[in-house]
Amino acid sequence: MNYREAYNIEDLRRIAADRLPRIAYDFLERGAEEEVTLAGNRAVFEHIRFQPRTLVDVSKRSQKKTLWGKTFDAPFGVAPTGASGMYCFDADVKIARAARRANLPCVLSTASFVPMERVIQEAGGTLWFQLYMSKDLETAERLVRRALAAGFEALVLTTDIPVAGNREFNRRNQFEIPLRLGPRQILDGLLHPRWLTSVFLRTLLTSGIPRFQNLDVNVGGRIVSTTLTGFRQRREELNWEDLAWLRKLWPKKLLVKGVLTVEDAQLAARYGADGIFVSNHGGRQLDGAPSPIEILPQIADAVGDRLAIMVDSGFRRGTDIVKALALGADMVFVGRATLYGASAGGEEGVLRAVDLLKSEIDRVMALLGCTTVDALGSQYLRFDSSEAVGQTPSLVSQRQAI
Ligand SMILES: Cc1cc2nc3c(=O)[nH]c(=O)nc-3n(C[C@H](O)[C@H](O)[C@H](O)COP(=O)(O)O)c2cc1C
Repeated sequence: MNYREAYNIEDLRRIAADRLPRIAYDFLERGAEEEVTLAGNRAVFEHIRFQPRTLVDVSKRSQKKTLWGKTFDAPFGVAPTGASGMYCFDADVKIARAARRANLPCVLSTASFVPMERVIQEAGGTLWFQLYMSKDLETAERLVRRALAAGFEALVLTTDIPVAGNREFNRRNQFEIPLRLGPRQILDGLLHPRWLTSVFLRTLLTSGIPRFQNLDVNVGGRIVSTTLTGFRQRREELNWEDLAWLRKLWPKKLLVKGVLTVEDAQLAARYGADGIFVSNHGGRQLDGAPSPIEILPQIADAVGDRLAIMVDSGFRRGTDIVKALALGADMVFVGRATLYGASAGGEEGVLRAVDLLKSEIDRVMALLGCTTVDALGSQYLRFDSSEAVGQTPSLVSQRQAI
């Protein structure tokens, strides 16, 4: 199958599974430990049903979404994904360029294989920079100033990774950045010749062994901006005072990514954030963390008037996105969906993923009898009364409210 023949995101995932070596596919697809959270991110949507209105004129409908004075063509954007360069050649630029062509916001990861300046120059569009804050504040400040000088419109501080999640498959596969080339990895690559030549060898010939290009480190007092070992200097002491510090440093929009409680959403507002990502990092960090959808209604109630609310983790269908908007999200972000597209067809594959989601959203809106995304609300939803949902307090309270 080719990306043009994909009818949905799952088709793109299958193409990616076929093309990618195991080490890359596992890094993309899998989650932490027992993958309870990973599975929950998908399962939660089954317990939310629609309450469609009928005999509504839906001949003129729009999924455009305005955020902070900019109007996007759809109510979703591209989440930051580190090491994307394993999925197609020059992925960071291609994903950002596809987002610009689709008029959607895109978040570049600190852990990209392409320097942030080149992504801005070659892709353009609405780009936000995701920050993994390093232990050393001088290094962190330099990186933030670099993102500001490069022209990023917002800074997204990821807070749910004080230590790396327990992803045992990575260890089993001996996954490391820069990629380690032992016999196992070489065999894996040889078994996927298309990936080997069009992604790996091409990257190798163009820019050498793939490595992080934005992770600054402090080596004996000297800050080095291109590093092989950046993650060893992760800031485990990251706390709300760091957010206050960033607030002073960063004059543009500031978001906190990794909020899963009402209390933390309120703290983010108090410390001056402009928005949050309600996210469990796509099930890759704390196994047992809830799905963002479960807490979203309470968070939207508590801070929706003060913060822009983004949500990610588990979105694969237009119906999923529409449900989150009806539960109070301003925008949804997708991580794996666009990476499947990148793996299946590079920039055009990412656009295919975006188009599939957009056409699903459009159809769902028509079938729901709702003509604008801002009109979506809990009046369009009903909640399954099964045991599984009964154990989810926030969904229960929503259910009772309806
Ligand atoms: C391969 C991969 C790499 C990721 N890298 C980062 C990253 O560098 N920074 C970050 O904040 N989140 C990262 N994430 C998490 C995503 O930003 C997002 O929270 C998650 O993918 C959403 O779930 P979904 O993949 O089910 O859409 C990564 C996710 C994946 C799948």
